[in-house]
Amino acid sequence: MPRQLIAGNWKMNGLTVPGARLAGAIREAVAAAPPPCDLLICPPFTLVGTLAHVMLGSGVAVGAQDCHAKPAGAHTGDVSAPMLKDAGATAVILGHSERRTEPGEREAAVRATAGAGRAAGLGRIVWVGETLAEREAGRQEAVVAAQLAGSVPEGFPGSGVVAYEPVWAIGTGRTPTEADIAAMHAMIRRVLGERFGATGGRVPILYGGSVKPSNAETILALPEVGGALVGGASLVAEDFLAIAAAAA
Ligand code: 13P
Repeated sequence: MPRQLIAGNWKMNGLTVPGARLAGAIREAVAAAPPPCDLLICPPFTLVGTLAHVMLGSGVAVGAQDCHAKPAGAHTGDVSAPMLKDAGATAVILGHSERRTEPGEREAAVRATAGAGRAAGLGRIVWVGETLAEREAGRQEAVVAAQLAGSVPEGFPGSGVVAYEPVWAIGTGRTPTEADIAAMHAMIRRVLGERFGATGGRVPILYGGSVKPSNAETILALPEVGGALVGGASLVAEDFLAIAAAAA
């Protein structure tokens, strides 16, 4: 069994001094008591280089929250996968629900960015998840299966990760039942296995959405849960580290 991955998504939070302080606190705690999992921190673009420097040699990886599909060119305001790699990132989150709803990214665009991440040698964490209306209509598995088909590119296993985050659980304090998380993770595993064969069976599947110290142990012990994608709680060193300590 590979180690679980606990990834922190800082979203649009973090200025240089407090961001470096938070990363430094995580670095020190990990050095004193190494967690039983892999750790990744995904700050905003502006802090990727700074945190990569802070985390050098710590074993804590640094990633980003999006990238452009092209390696370079006339794309004002965008950042490419090779630029992230150059800044010290080793992974990138792609197609998060907040990018699907705010700039309106669609499956094909997410798939293209995931291909770009692979070409640059970055790990890719591709987001999937249903809205509350979709779950209430009983369509959650169909929605997530369609997202997987549309946004996960060829050649994904190896350094690709899927993150399942129900939209209605993000930042709300609500989480699905244990049975619902296990059912969705089993479905995702089945879909990846059907598409990629044995290698699809090894793609880590993270759960995200209101993961906190009080629920981490239960969630991380569920079958097919390969780790967690943590939003709000990743901004508090103690909470992020408590979640990491709960890894199975
Ligand atoms: P919260 O942990 O704040 O619910 O955010 C989850 C998330 O969107 C991580 O990508």
